[in-house]
Amino acid sequence: MKILVTGGLGFIGSHTVVELQNEGFEVVIIDDCSNADVKVLEGIQAITGKLPLFEKIDLRDKPMVAAFFARHQDVEGVIHFAASKAVGESVEKPLLYYENNIGSLVYILQELSKKEKARFIFSSSCTVYGQADEMPITEDAPVKAAESPYGNTKQMGEEIIADTCKVTPGLHAIALRYFNPMGAHPSTEIGELPIGVPQNLVPFITQTGMGVREQLAVFGNDYPTPDGTCIRDYIHVVDLARAHVVALQRLLNAKNEQNYEVFNVGTGKGSSVLEVIQSFERVSGEKLNYKIVDRRAGDIVSAYANTKKANEVLGWKAQSTLDEAMKSAWDWEKKVRNN
Ligand code: UFG
Repeated sequence: MKILVTGGLGFIGSHTVVELQNEGFEVVIIDDCSNADVKVLEGIQAITGKLPLFEKIDLRDKPMVAAFFARHQDVEGVIHFAASKAVGESVEKPLLYYENNIGSLVYILQELSKKEKARFIFSSSCTVYGQADEMPITEDAPVKAAESPYGNTKQMGEEIIADTCKVTPGLHAIALRYFNPMGAHPSTEIGELPIGVPQNLVPFITQTGMGVREQLAVFGNDYPTPDGTCIRDYIHVVDLARAHVVALQRLLNAKNEQNYEVFNVGTGKGSSVLEVIQSFERVSGEKLNYKIVDRRAGDIVSAYANTKKANEVLGWKAQSTLDEAMKSAWDWEKKVRNN
């Protein structure tokens, strides 16, 4: 069965392609390579023994999207990762984010709406909750006003899918609200490859550990948390990738009678920035050079998932501990730098 994975050369996309191929799905990847390297295909092949199909397409090009679906009429499901994802950049270039993240989504849904039956999985984010009032966060927590155009594209994306599903009975969709993905495939064949200075905590830590960055700035230690640093729910990217496979299987079995559902995808455990640093020091045996600096604008204090719905409905649960995820991130960083 053929599944389209947009953004399949990216961090979460590539790990999901591996899990799909391991489950016997035939994968076709669309990526515009704006934030990913075609060499990722070799890593996927090394792990799974199979080279996925790949087409370099910019999903903002509506005729190209239509032509792709005309060529691949046997695509039975789409997992849509392709999107711009830098919060800060989205504030500077809102129209780029709306064009990339909303335009591509609309064009794909237009094509899927023509099919008698279609399944769609959307990369959403816990950013839709903003600073939730209660921890852990359930899917029923209110969606708060978005703090950035990036966050807004995730909220709007969910609404666009929900509205489309209402009038398209053949379309079955799931939005997965990711918490904080980290780590790499244990084979070290694929992993996270941030371009330039990493914005996210874990790649910044591993790059600092390797000496690529001099020092990690910890953004604030005066938050109302036990050690004063912010709390997040860090999930191993392989666990996150597997969540897509089980969500897809649910859609293929048409078990979601409502035809649109959302799920949190996290571990359910919150870790502070200092705990993440300690995890790095444990698994690497290295001391991390860091200093406490001022808070970063826009950071929320705490976000971790209630994972009951994914556990009960999808039968999915994160398997890896923070240390296991950190070890995979560190092994990957060492491999990238030593090559
Ligand atoms: N942090 C540091 N120093 C750094 C980088 C991060 O102290 O150099 C801290 C942040 O202040 C935060 C934590 O580490 O407390 C995690 O920060 P990340 O930037 O790794 O992740 P965020 O939770 O801020 O952002 C992530 C995704 C966004 C998404 C958001 C949803 O990167 O795309 O979750 O909440 F919008």
